[in-house]
Amino acid sequence: MKAADVPAGHGVTGDLGGRKVAVFNSGETLTVLDNTCTHMGCQTNWDEKDQVWDCPCHGSRYSSDGSVVRGPAMDPLPPLPYHLADGEIVLD
Ligand code: FES
Repeated sequence: MKAADVPAGHGVTGDLGGRKVAVFNSGETLTVLDNTCTHMGCQTNWDEKDQVWDCPCHGSRYSSDGSVVRGPAMDPLPPLPYHLADGEIVLD
């Protein structure tokens, strides 16, 4: 996934190095999260209208930085350290 694939103000899900990730671009920085819902392991989707990561399984919601907005999840989506290499997002 390239940084340019994530427009400012948007979230994109995908695979990086075999891990499911949720990437948000604030316009200044990218936030790369592990996209495994901490409730029971489903993958979240970006909700453009509400600007949250939304889990389709039981309704948990996470802010763009991964913190829990609504349960049943109790724990945040963990951030994953990364660097950019020729515009590609690479997990550390
Ligand atoms: Fe995400 Fe249950 S697995 S809310």
